[in-house]
Amino acid sequence: MSEKATLTWGNGRAAEFPVLKGSVGPDVIDIRTLYSETGMFTYDPGYTSTGSTKSAITYIDGDQGILLYRGYPIEELAVQCDFLEVAYLIKHGELPNQAQYDDWVMRVKRHTMVHEQLARFFQGFRRDAHPMASLVGVVGALSAFYHDSLDINDPEHRVIAAIRLIAKLPTIVAMAYKYNMGQPFMYPRNELSYTANFMHMMFATPCEKYEPNPVLVRALDRILILHADHEQNASTSTVRLAGSSGANPFACIAAGIACLWGPAHGGANEAALAMLERIGDVSKIPDFIARVKDKNSGVKLMGFGHRVYKHYDPRAKLMRETCYEVLAELGLANDRLFKLAMALEKIALEDDYFVSRKLYPNVDFYSGIVQRALGIPTNLFTGIFALARTVGWIAQWNEMISDPEQKIGRPRQLYTGATRRDVVPMGKRA
Ligand code: ACO
Repeated sequence: MSEKATLTWGNGRAAEFPVLKGSVGPDVIDIRTLYSETGMFTYDPGYTSTGSTKSAITYIDGDQGILLYRGYPIEELAVQCDFLEVAYLIKHGELPNQAQYDDWVMRVKRHTMVHEQLARFFQGFRRDAHPMASLVGVVGALSAFYHDSLDINDPEHRVIAAIRLIAKLPTIVAMAYKYNMGQPFMYPRNELSYTANFMHMMFATPCEKYEPNPVLVRALDRILILHADHEQNASTSTVRLAGSSGANPFACIAAGIACLWGPAHGGANEAALAMLERIGDVSKIPDFIARVKDKNSGVKLMGFGHRVYKHYDPRAKLMRETCYEVLAELGLANDRLFKLAMALEKIALEDDYFVSRKLYPNVDFYSGIVQRALGIPTNLFTGIFALARTVGWIAQWNEMISDPEQKIGRPRQLYTGATRRDVVPMGKRA
């Protein structure tokens, strides 16, 4: 017999709800009939106790510090696979064999260019526009160019839209950077790997030959793998909510990018690096930590803490290793900010304020330092995150569209405003 949870309230009233079991992780109480059975809603700002969907893509155990994509630990994927392999896994559910991988890579590479008219879109932005502002606009505008992949009920359209998004995001992110720099856009070079091609579009110019450094390509590829999906976070939930109305995938991903931009989410690595710059020196750490602990200061230790991880974020460990590799390759082993970050991490991990609240470094604590060493400007960090997360967003969007249980997303509320009252004529109002 299936398990039930019983809710009792008021004067001995009770209602029963089924308990659902996932393949791993906590059980879930199915409250879909709560309102019809009790006349009440749940109240859960920030959805800390609310599951919005079933999903078979990513599993996180925040207490143990475990992250699995389709069952595979992030630690194995990050060292044994490349980003497009992981993208295939996230999207299709299984790792590709050689033939599937070759076909997938070829299909993605065939879509790396953007429509020439789309490239001219950038001219409408100020040169100093934040790249995320350009990305929200340009990715949303893809829906004005690719009408042949907008029918969300046609599985083939959904496949083409997904490939287009995964293939074109590096091109668009690099264009946002080049536009800021006042340099010409670089066309993709499809003989390069996905990540090497992105570095080419970022750092090559028409006047000089550019050969991406394999150690740095591998580091950036790892950043992309670590950011590819993270189950129902704010931006992914935004993509799902936007998509639940039947909106096209390009518009939904643009909504995800807008959400990701916030400093509590994708903007955190930019904020973490800015914080390190502000602290400036190891001797200033105690004073900074004191301000973080002062609740009235409004200062947070950026790159620390996570809604789900109450243990060391497994991605932060990998990012720390990558940080060492990149700095060694570039002869920056004594990098000032890296040393500062290590000292800050050590102190924070021993301090009772952070220990008692289970605040550990998250992936953003180190990814900013790595990206800075790669030559990526701070204001593009979140754009790189968006590039990687597009894989997760589009896989989650597709899962939602294919799920017969999904409905338009529509949270309820606890109304605390005025009760019914009559309009008083203007002359009689206080
Ligand atoms: N610095 C100092 N104190 C913190 C921090 C931090 N970074 N994060 C949480 N706390 C404190 C809170 O003030 C709170 O203290 P209290 O219990 O005394 O009131 C306690 O720890 C619990 O924190 P919450 O805010 O309830 O945790 P929540 O899950 O809502 O927030 C979040 C998670 C938004 C990530 C938060 O930790 C934060 O703002 N961190 C800094 C920003 C950051 O690094 N974001 C990246 C997230 S990862 C990503 O998007 C890839």
